[in-house]
Amino acid sequence: MNCSSCFQQRSSVESTPGQYSAERREFLYKAASMLGITISAGACISLVPACEQTQVNTSSGMMGTGSATLDIASQSALQRVGGAVRIALNNTQLVIIRTSMTEFLALSAVCTHAGCLVNLPVGGTLSCDCHGSQFSATDGRVLNGPAAVPLRRYTTSFNSMTNILTITF
Ligand code: FES
Repeated sequence: MNCSSCFQQRSSVESTPGQYSAERREFLYKAASMLGITISAGACISLVPACEQTQVNTSSGMMGTGSATLDIASQSALQRVGGAVRIALNNTQLVIIRTSMTEFLALSAVCTHAGCLVNLPVGGTLSCDCHGSQFSATDGRVLNGPAAVPLRRYTTSFNSMTNILTITF
């Protein structure tokens, strides 16, 4: 069982956090039996926090789901093209850069080398103070190691009528 499917199951059957429905227990038993694992109810429930912990990591930049909105009017740095903010949305550390009057770039602020937060862009580069990695503020690609993997890029859409930016995770 991977934790992605665990989370999807949790989302569809659990209405109150911390309560484990009969459907959820059935799902976990079925998943365990598919893996050839015999588990008790207590062990079954103990699997859940592991999945939830993974989901926390997931929403911090690997493969989360959902979306968040940001009122651009509340972010003075994003009133001008080239402005940027570092902000946590949906439990995800982001750098958001205004690339035009109608477009924004949302990158994970978590350095792919060892997880430090990168700085706001200077001269088109996002730098990580921990070990010196540098990333492009245009698309998150690695400009300088030790990081070898680009910063994750999130889909954005901007409603210029409402001044609301939507980031999809
Ligand atoms: S954590 Fe960023 S360079 Fe090592």
